[in-house]
Amino acid sequence: TAVSGDFKVADLSLAAFGRKEIQLAEHEMPGLMAIRSEYAAARPLAGARITGSLHMTVQTAVLIETLVALGADVRWASCNIFSTQDHAAAAVAVGPEGSPQQPRGVPVFAWKGETLEEYWWCTEQALTWPDAPGPNMILDDGGDATLLVHKGVEFEKAGSAPDPSTADNDEYRLILELLNRSLAQSPGKWTALASEIRGVTEETTTGVHRLYEMHQAGTLLFPAINVNDAVTKSKFDNKYGCRHSLIDGINRATDTLIGGKVAVVCGYGDVGKGCAESLRGQGARVIVTEIDPICALQAAMDGYQVTTLEDVVGTADIFITTTGNKDIVLAEHMEAMKHQAIVGNIGHFDNEIDIAGLSKLPGIVKTEIKPQVHEWRFADGHTIIVLSEGRLLNLGNATGHPSFVMSNSFANQTIAQIELFTKTEQYPVGVYVLPKQLDEKVARLHLDALGVKLTKLRPEQASYIGVPVEGPYKSDHYRY
Ligand code: NAI
Repeated sequence: TAVSGDFKVADLSLAAFGRKEIQLAEHEMPGLMAIRSEYAAARPLAGARITGSLHMTVQTAVLIETLVALGADVRWASCNIFSTQDHAAAAVAVGPEGSPQQPRGVPVFAWKGETLEEYWWCTEQALTWPDAPGPNMILDDGGDATLLVHKGVEFEKAGSAPDPSTADNDEYRLILELLNRSLAQSPGKWTALASEIRGVTEETTTGVHRLYEMHQAGTLLFPAINVNDAVTKSKFDNKYGCRHSLIDGINRATDTLIGGKVAVVCGYGDVGKGCAESLRGQGARVIVTEIDPICALQAAMDGYQVTTLEDVVGTADIFITTTGNKDIVLAEHMEAMKHQAIVGNIGHFDNEIDIAGLSKLPGIVKTEIKPQVHEWRFADGHTIIVLSEGRLLNLGNATGHPSFVMSNSFANQTIAQIELFTKTEQYPVGVYVLPKQLDEKVARLHLDALGVKLTKLRPEQASYIGVPVEGPYKSDHYRY
């Protein structure tokens, strides 16, 4: 039963369970909680109206409540149709002091299994403030909230939005339908909304690509902080997070023994490195595909066979895409796979695996085994198993990354929100990364919990290697 007030979640009665898991997560998120207590009195986000578009999980609940503790007004949507944990969404909507009868939390618009149309409705709701033209900050993951604002402004400038029937895919058609409606109903809405926005902080590789592209094209409307490229984000969440949650997703979806199988990982960036390691840890023989000679060489030196997908498509058992690129596993690849091969994507968008092409093959039949697990039977009778319809399987089939690693990512997010909101004039329109000192601070906040004892740099040593005793310890071009 979907419930709505100024929010929409699947089932408010799940709030108590969500609250318990949030409490467990708080202990596992020392970075975020330390920032919460550091700034609780100063409330640097007082006056901030933050629209968040990021997987509505238990960990995100702790992020949302941190932003609120720092003074912000928050509205939230998930950034994927399958990634919401309904108990987390319910707990956030109810709030720590509310009840299912009297919800007093944050307006959340998210449930697991949205349609694409509902997804864009939710994004619009998160951007629509009851008593203001809109948010003054965006916290984005993959850039969909930012995209909607930019498209809205672009079409208002042009005087109209393109005819939805001209869209080259279903999702863009839905965006055009939404914007055509809103241009007719509230002319000027997106331009007014965008003019209030001080900036966006972006969580992931794919969203960051979009921001740099817009900045290069001169169309970026407000400054952005690239949270992804904080070292304590991409070198931890993308790698160690996926190392945990990839096999969690495969196991929950299929319960197939991974040991002894041949697994292909397409892409050996941060996500691919974590995925390959976890599959190998389970005893799979892992094969990597890459287009970048540096990453291909890294994979080879890490002990993986590196070859093309075409070479191994008929013999491998598990195929995982991690590229952030499109058209990696095509319909013809899937047709050539072994009986009951498993195919899944952990990159941000669903265009890495050509599900549309698969569904058009003559004689193909799709059967739901359970939500987010589908068997596709080819005309010759053999089948493959596709996870989360090609959307990120660690959030679709499992619960995404665990709290401790997300504490690093979300500590960066919170610091980035404070930075852009309180020092707006220091950030002309552009895309920025956080200063290294803040990156080191985020890492530092997580050491005690793991019993890490740091060696103290002595002043003579510091001057010998030319760094301050208190850091930063590396130059900006150092790669970790
Ligand atoms: P990255 O840029 O470090 O790695 C991507 C790799 O794929 C690169 O090395 C690139 O050379 C390679 N690649 C590109 N086209 C290819 C092709 N046709 N065949 C083989 N390899 C190809 O990016 P990162 O940080 O690893 O992120 C990858 C994707 O995962 C992005 O979409 C990102 O947003 C997403 N992501 C998902 C997470 C999740 O929890 N599901 C967490 C973090 C990131």
